[in-house]
Amino acid sequence: MVDFTIRQAELSDAEALARVHVDTWRTAYRGIMTDETLDALCYDQRTAHWKKILTGGKAVTFVAAMDEVVGFANGARDRSEGATRADAELFAIYVREDHQGSGIGQALVRALAARFIELEFQTLKLWVLDANSQGGRFYRGLGGEPSDHKVMTIGGIDLQKTAYSWSDLSLLVG
Ligand SMILES: CC(C)(COP(=O)(O)OP(=O)(O)OC[C@H]1O[C@@H](n2cnc3c(N)ncnc32)[C@H](O)[C@@H]1OP(=O)(O)O)[C@@H](O)C(=O)NCCC(=O)NCCS
Repeated sequence: MVDFTIRQAELSDAEALARVHVDTWRTAYRGIMTDETLDALCYDQRTAHWKKILTGGKAVTFVAAMDEVVGFANGARDRSEGATRADAELFAIYVREDHQGSGIGQALVRALAARFIELEFQTLKLWVLDANSQGGRFYRGLGGEPSDHKVMTIGGIDLQKTAYSWSDLSLLVG
């Protein structure tokens, strides 16, 4: 049994969030995005980005901590228009490669969903790259229904994405 704590992120987590973010992009997206894109990721820039998010007051961010932060999930009110519009959007969830498959991702989703329900959101959506088969499997396992597709260009490469939707956030809280 892996021992970890889920808690809301604090400003002092910005550097740790940046480390998890950059390191997990590099392991999860190697071979999907170009080496140039992944090698150009920068801890300092990501730390600045996280400081903005954590002081912005709009997003909800949870971290999973052991002796250090090993994962995070964040999201906010869905500001998009169109068919997949939901009350809330999960923007990002990343667990360090050496800690994946131990239930941390599910615990992060549960915490985020519970907070969204407190904020009176009922529905959720997120986007995942089709080439990220691990991500797609994880969301389908949590009951996400594929609801839309689009293409995004990252580092000069066109990548297909699928939206997954949940019509009842309470199903994610368990
Ligand atoms: C996708 C991701 C966030 C999931 O987090 P995780 O901590 O690995 O997920 P969990 O451990 O909660 O669940 C993963 C699997 O382990 C299984 N599992 C859950 N608890 C478990 C436990 N205690 N012991 C063994 N297996 C367990 C789950 O059933 C799940 O099965 P699946 O293979 O059908 O998905 C994580 O793997 C990750 O960061 N991947 C790389 C980046 C990424 O894809 N992010 C999403 C981008 S949109």
